Amino acid sequence: MPSPSASDRDRTLPHLPTPGIGHFSDHSDNGISIDEFSDEDAEFSTDLADDVVSLSSSVLDYEYENGRRYHSNRMVSPPFPGRRAQVSPAEIPTWSQGEYMLPNDEEEQDRMDLKTPQEILDLGTGTGIWALDMAEKFPSAHITATDIDPIQPSWTLPNLEFIVENFEDEWLYKKNHFDYIHARLLAMCVADWPLLIRRMYEHTKPGGYCEHQESAIWAWSDDGSLTADSPIFQHVQALDTAARLTGRELNMWYKIRGWMIDAGFEDVKESVYFLPYSPWPRDPHLKELGRYQAVMAQQAVESYGLRLCTQVLGWGVEPARIFQAMVKQQLRDKHLHAYLKVVTVHGRKPRGDWS
Ligand SMILES: C[S@@+](CC[C@H](N)C(=O)[O-])C[C@H]1O[C@@H](n2cnc3c(N)ncnc32)[C@H](O)[C@@H]1O
Repeated sequence: MPSPSASDRDRTLPHLPTPGIGHFSDHSDNGISIDEFSDEDAEFSTDLADDVVSLSSSVLDYEYENGRRYHSNRMVSPPFPGRRAQVSPAEIPTWSQGEYMLPNDEEEQDRMDLKTPQEILDLGTGTGIWALDMAEKFPSAHITATDIDPIQPSWTLPNLEFIVENFEDEWLYKKNHFDYIHARLLAMCVADWPLLIRRMYEHTKPGGYCEHQESAIWAWSDDGSLTADSPIFQHVQALDTAARLTGRELNMWYKIRGWMIDAGFEDVKESVYFLPYSPWPRDPHLKELGRYQAVMAQQAVESYGLRLCTQVLGWGVEPARIFQAMVKQQLRDKHLHAYLKVVTVHGRKPRGDWS
């Protein structure tokens, strides 16, 4: 385990997604105002023939330069012949010529598609909340979200598929296929992390990305308010020991970066964030996160602890519950200034690796 002191203090916490925020709420301050049109206005022509004629074949003339294809900068027919009379000849070249300098060939189209991922895979999707958000945010992408348990909603979005499968089994997906593979909070779900990350690499399209988000199941404090004999600290130690005994590590968050580099990813970036266990920090953003985490942590004590302590460590149910009650009580202590760490790591598969 890494030492329980914070050396990378300068990094800040991520913003948690706000539940229920839809696409349009982002525009509340600068919404798109609606123009007013009269019935006679030619802007909304009802004559389909006019529009069809406007697709002059000369629009499809391309220019080729240095092996790349570009939009033609030659003068083309004005796209709206019906409006010709309203436009002075001097104006026509201005709006009928293209000024776009980037190529428009297939190579460029591939590049544009990469900027908005087309094929996305979410491993161990849980309730599917991340996958649903992504499907809404990228309607042109196809999202596959997998889990060994079918706990996802039966309603979904047209571009999202929930699949029940075990990601530790052999993958039947095509290699070099996904633009983006995402894995979040899979601690203790994986027996062989390097193998899983190698598979993620193989099935990512060259130039595509993989991202992991993990949380330490651990506790730190910088002012000594969390002592080694405190219930919380003993609890996380017990969980860590039990998870190791099962062969599925809980605290592997700090190894992900190295595993990704070993698998072949390039430009691997790791960010570590601090998440307070309760609203103790003064900073309003951290305080807000602490409020969420306080609720989460109370519930997590039993979720993580009950089976590990009874089945793996052999505690009785009653002592386990009494101990958990002590942990929960300490989590509510105002004088405790404890936090955990959350890590995000992403990396790119090299563009040339189609092996
Ligand atoms: C802690 S939850 C995280 C859920 C989700 N990634 C999130 O961040 O909201 C872990 C999920 O991984 C799933 N899981 C565990 N082992 C798995 C496996 N071998 N194959 C597929 N899913 C698995 C569990 O069923 C559970 O839904």
